[in-house]
Amino acid sequence: MVNVAVLGYGTVGSGVFDVLVKNHDSIAKKIGDDIKVKYVLDLREFPGDPVESVLVHDFDTIINDPEIDIVAEAMGGLDPAYTFAKRTLEAGKNYCTSNKELVAMYGPELLELAKSKGKNFLFEASVGGGIPIIRPLNQSLTADDITEITGILNGTTNFILTKMDKEGLAFEDVLKEAQELGYAEKDPTADVEGYDACRKIAILSSLAYGLHVNFEDIYTEGITKITALDFKYASKLGLSIKLFGKSKKIDGKCYAMVAPFMISTESPLYCVNGVMNGILVNGEVIGDIMFYGSGAGKYPTASAVVADIVDEAKHLNKHIMSLWSSKKLELEDIKSNRCKFFVRVSGDAASRLDAVEEAFGKITPVTLDEVNGEFAFITEVISEADYEAAAQKVDGILQRIRVEA
Ligand code: HSE
Repeated sequence: MVNVAVLGYGTVGSGVFDVLVKNHDSIAKKIGDDIKVKYVLDLREFPGDPVESVLVHDFDTIINDPEIDIVAEAMGGLDPAYTFAKRTLEAGKNYCTSNKELVAMYGPELLELAKSKGKNFLFEASVGGGIPIIRPLNQSLTADDITEITGILNGTTNFILTKMDKEGLAFEDVLKEAQELGYAEKDPTADVEGYDACRKIAILSSLAYGLHVNFEDIYTEGITKITALDFKYASKLGLSIKLFGKSKKIDGKCYAMVAPFMISTESPLYCVNGVMNGILVNGEVIGDIMFYGSGAGKYPTASAVVADIVDEAKHLNKHIMSLWSSKKLELEDIKSNRCKFFVRVSGDAASRLDAVEEAFGKITPVTLDEVNGEFAFITEVISEADYEAAAQKVDGILQRIRVEA
């Protein structure tokens, strides 16, 4: 018998409990042993809920029970999750989590601790919700050198950008709707400023490149400055706008960033709409490979947590996740990163063309029939530093968005 404790009976925790109860027989068959949720930890009471019979309020009940093999955390935040993770592993039990803050901040330390104890610290649900991406990076793509990861890693911002694109709405209006629908938090900062996607691309990059990418080193730009007008230009150019978490390795140098990008219909990520996530991985041997699915939500996320529980139940005393060294990966300054830029400038295209071309080189102005007093253009592929230098020479720049097309 494998005994499991679930920490937190919120959206994800209750999903984990439900799946383990509902799919008990098939899960037990896959493990080759019986499995039981012995405890669910939550400070709240749930009168009449099936969880009542296993509900506990004190973590010590779990940690002091020698029968508990696996602790699955679905609480989020660093405190007390970090303490619970450390105590669980130190006690010689396995730990799995959907908590990206915890993994981005303490991943290498907790993996080391798990390794030293011959146990596991798994975190499939921390990136991409139900999409299997951690396990493929750790197991299926090990023959390859990963050269690039580009992900739509945040469902909330993808929902907002998709609505702005398809319905011509303003950012603030769609954000309000997303909050009413429960897709966006009351305080949406972590999502709309890109902090959530930043932690996720830090985790994926650490696994892909084998060294620790500190999320605090990643240049991060959110979507709050993207306007309905930007989408009108994008539409005229046959492009859309997506928030990317992105990292790439060029000649041994690594770049990482989170920022809105204009992308063309040719991009495999173009069709990742609404709350869905998509992750495009490029490896030297495999080429492009894409992962798509629900990046959040009760059951998709629970599915990934339960998959970790199954993996840990099959490897109760064998460490299986070892690709993430605690040695820091020094990221390159994004000033030398190269891409095209979409730029909007105030004034009349004809009268300002010479000045703009003197700074940026030859450009083709784009105008909108319904908008006077400004125009837009897309630069050639240039470095971020060259963009900054050129932009200094042009008055009235209203917007700039990186372009991947
Ligand atoms: N706030 C996150 C999102 C939840 O919108 O994708 C899943 O990590």
